[in-house]
Amino acid sequence: MCGIVGYVGARQATPLLIGGLRKLEYRGYDSAGVSVWSNGASRVVRCRGKLQNLEDKLLKEPAPGTIGIGHTRWATHGRPSDENAHPHKVGAISVIHNGIIENHLALRQELAAAGAKFSSETDTELFAHLIDRVVRSGVKDLTTAVRTALAKVHGAYAFVVMDDDDPTKLVAAKNASPMVIGLGDGENFIASDVTAILAETRKILFIEEGELITITKDSVAITDFEGRPKQREPKIITWSAMQAEKGGFKHFMLKEIHEQPRAVADTLVGRVDLERDDVNLDEVKLDVANIKRIIFVACGTSYHASLVGEFLIEGLARIPVEVELASEFRYRDPIVGPGDLVVAVSQSGETADTMAAVREAKGKGAKVLAISNVVESSIPRLADYAFYTHAGPEIGVASTKAFTTQLVSMVLLAIYLGRRNGKLPQARARELLSELLQLPNKLKDVVDHGAQLQVLARRYGPATGFLFLGRGAQYPIALEGALKLKEISYIHAEGYAAGEMKHGPIALIDEHLPVVVLAPRGPNYEKVVSNLSEVKARQGKILAIATRGDTDIGGVADEVVLIPDVAIELQPIVSVIPLQMLSYYVADFKGTDIDQPRNLAKSVTVE
Ligand code: F6R
Repeated sequence: MCGIVGYVGARQATPLLIGGLRKLEYRGYDSAGVSVWSNGASRVVRCRGKLQNLEDKLLKEPAPGTIGIGHTRWATHGRPSDENAHPHKVGAISVIHNGIIENHLALRQELAAAGAKFSSETDTELFAHLIDRVVRSGVKDLTTAVRTALAKVHGAYAFVVMDDDDPTKLVAAKNASPMVIGLGDGENFIASDVTAILAETRKILFIEEGELITITKDSVAITDFEGRPKQREPKIITWSAMQAEKGGFKHFMLKEIHEQPRAVADTLVGRVDLERDDVNLDEVKLDVANIKRIIFVACGTSYHASLVGEFLIEGLARIPVEVELASEFRYRDPIVGPGDLVVAVSQSGETADTMAAVREAKGKGAKVLAISNVVESSIPRLADYAFYTHAGPEIGVASTKAFTTQLVSMVLLAIYLGRRNGKLPQARARELLSELLQLPNKLKDVVDHGAQLQVLARRYGPATGFLFLGRGAQYPIALEGALKLKEISYIHAEGYAAGEMKHGPIALIDEHLPVVVLAPRGPNYEKVVSNLSEVKARQGKILAIATRGDTDIGGVADEVVLIPDVAIELQPIVSVIPLQMLSYYVADFKGTDIDQPRNLAKSVTVE
């Protein structure tokens, strides 16, 4: 993880670096630091903890200058501490790094044997030593020195290097960690993602694997690691910087929950074709007739969306589907190949495990479709086809609007496949498509009724554990509800298939355990109500999510949250929202750090 940012131009670098890091703090917040050059030397200011600590420190130790680099850290090698905070400086060389140097142990031994003295436990410092040694051996050009040092490093990285002896340029290198360049007028930027520099420029160069970049205030040169020049046209980003601001909400997560009607509407734009009762996925061009099986690979919340995808695609297109945790997929020599469509689902498009699963699948001859929220991120670029959700930047670490737009993508994909292979009757497609178009208004109805969840959160928030139950496509929503609660409120929660409850978790039930049951109308309703009665008989406290108009459920449940009636296929998109809100308000009452929960980072670029 970690966030990197660099600036070279005519303006003061520090405020721009801090502004960028503020947007990147979701990538890690164990420590932060900057290195800014002026009057012959760079000044490194860094400290443990959140960016605010660094800002406070910079008030006492200002770092003036018009070229600099900044970093926010999610610790991998070396605990969170002042010494391990980036930038790391050795001689005249300052380095920031996102990623992991895999051969760090061998490098540390080699450098120590050559007399290097280390001031941190990090792998990053080793790279600064390597460059310093190359420079001291007589290589004065920084780009050449970085290229030479890179030859000794294996692993994942986005490095940015600054040299006190050549303070006109920054040199950067990328392998498997994200990096973009922002083009300005007489100034240029480097960052982990576009949100960090969107307030300054929308002209972006996306950097690819194995590229070395040298930027000055007036130029950007991209080469491969052998020094061969590469050409790249800038892309113009149309997100507004406002989309990455809190907009009056207490937390990004709450803002993003409220943005879901808009995010879903944006994801549908141009994709619903009511004239042909079909889905328009021109960007994907799948060879549907030759798809024998679909395998989803994903992590965390995106994995839960994939489980809903299984239900939808098997139901509407009758194609066999498997869903794999990306972090497990490639470690068991999976049976995958031509005829399989692997669908990699990743909000960030950068998750290392999902990326590795995509490489594995492609290497074995499968076609890969990426579903991602971040345009031009690594996974869609690696895939054969890319389908983008249009949720806009998701800043809160706990995923909300990215999830609901992933679910919408699953519905679109299932209809698309079903219409092409003839398994989905036109009339059913028409019904679903017109319901999809009404969905944003229904979601607005759900978010507008958030006050009830606030009351329930206050009532049940003191519990030390929660159980979430669901059947069919509501089972992944139970998993997602439990994950949301765990990650932001630090309360233990389990998601369970309702039918499995009596095979174990029923032992947990007593009057202290809130059980959140997903019970919208549908074929599973009666069975879920039976499970509810089993909970009731053991004095469990039941919070039911049910369809508006259900007058029976109040007889068994202690609390009922009513959601609008929608087609079964769309129910998960609606029913997850009360769970997101419940988690949010429980965490808010507990006073946890909702947007940046402990130990987590938004983009998990380590395996
Ligand atoms: C949970 C959450 C994580 C991510 C997971 C995968 O709220 O956000 O579980 O879903 O780290 O991330 P992406 O989708 O970016 O691959």
